[in-house]
Amino acid sequence: MCRTYTWIAPTHDLLALLVERRARRLAVEWAAPRNGERVLEVGVGTGLSFQKLLRRNPSGFTDGIDLTPAMLRLARWRARRAGTASHWRLQEGDAYDLPFPAGTFDLAFSSYVFDLLPEADFVPVLREFARVLRPGGRIVLAAMTKPRAWYERGWNALYRLWPPLLGGCRGVRLTFFLRKAGYQSVRRRHVSQLTFPSEVVHGTLPR
Ligand SMILES: C[S@@+](CC[C@H](N)C(=O)[O-])C[C@H]1O[C@@H](n2cnc3c(N)ncnc32)[C@H](O)[C@@H]1O
Repeated sequence: MCRTYTWIAPTHDLLALLVERRARRLAVEWAAPRNGERVLEVGVGTGLSFQKLLRRNPSGFTDGIDLTPAMLRLARWRARRAGTASHWRLQEGDAYDLPFPAGTFDLAFSSYVFDLLPEADFVPVLREFARVLRPGGRIVLAAMTKPRAWYERGWNALYRLWPPLLGGCRGVRLTFFLRKAGYQSVRRRHVSQLTFPSEVVHGTLPR
């Protein structure tokens, strides 16, 4: 994974801006970080979402992790431009074993990471997110999803042809797994941009 994203890093944002921008915007809107909150983003990539989360939470603290140093370098460059120095930290880390104590965060966010993980790992990883969230904490995820219309089918075909073409992403549906991992009030919206199907999901932990 790390090797794939090392060579994808310089061109990642082109496809992301073309086909993920709408879903990312909705995900940040649903995340609705309140100023002063502790926020975590997992798999920050080049920092496209991280920068938006920072700008909405200038007095809080936003942590971000990623497996790939080349992606983190770009995310740091982007975070510096958000103008919220000392209110964020970016470090190497793995979604499977988050480097934070239990009950640290108000909000956990991740975009276009679950669509890379094996389905068998969704619940354990979602439980790892739940561990670092406070009671009542929110989770917001964006991911490539399964096609809803015929014209959205080409992207999964590309994945089947050669997974690295899409950085290893394929369409997933996450709501079932969120509920299974203990999140409540789960909601989902399908977002299509230039035929690329994404979903945004939101859940809350019990208080
Ligand atoms: C498709 S990119 C998405 C980046 C960013 N979230 C965005 O929306 O543009 C996937 C990112 O997830 C990272 N990643 C993959 N598996 C991970 C894991 N187990 N833990 C942390 N980061 C991971 C990759 O290094 C890559 O930067």
